[in-house]
Amino acid sequence: MKNDNLTSLITKSEINSICDRLGSELTRDYQGKDLVIICILKGGFIFAADLVRRLPFNVQLDFIRLASYQGTNSTGKVDLVHDVTTKIEGRHILIVEDILDTGNTLTFLKSEIEKRKPASLKICTFLDKPSRRTVTFEADYVGKKIDDLFVVGYGLDFNEKFRNLPEVFVLNP
Ligand code: IMP
Ligand code: MG
Repeated sequence: MKNDNLTSLITKSEINSICDRLGSELTRDYQGKDLVIICILKGGFIFAADLVRRLPFNVQLDFIRLASYQGTNSTGKVDLVHDVTTKIEGRHILIVEDILDTGNTLTFLKSEIEKRKPASLKICTFLDKPSRRTVTFEADYVGKKIDDLFVVGYGLDFNEKFRNLPEVFVLNP
């Protein structure tokens, strides 16, 4: 599966340190609260699995699936293809995403979830490519900021490939 087009960007040990740090930040901020983590499928599944295992308190987990269509217009269109079943109203919600790129996906999801009146709503993303933003959007918890590179592995795919690579690689054209 690995090939000459892949260059290592984030190693296993760096992924571990990132998850340890975020786990501590989330523990500090959510201990004693009724936390619901919403993982965005498919890309967020490995990161979410690593994060929840660092939280020393009960946490409810749910999954949401979004489809984004780019290129037809500058704002990008996002569809909700599989919704959560958890009641959101009055709960502390943390959305877990693999990568924040243009900001369209999370802008859409944040406003959808806000309509359901959570007690609080925050965003945790493993990677952030700030230079790619087309809408103003900041995540509350960021694993690592990276340059404008297309990355795969650790849940992230290119045409559904490479999600199961245990580390993050740059996919060279
Ligand atoms: P946004 O709506 O442009 O912020 O896009 C976020 C989504 O685009 C992510 O959830 C990923 O599915 C996908 N994406 C953006 N950049 C990358 C990348 O470098 N590798 C793999 N998927 C990416
Ligand atoms: Mg994704």
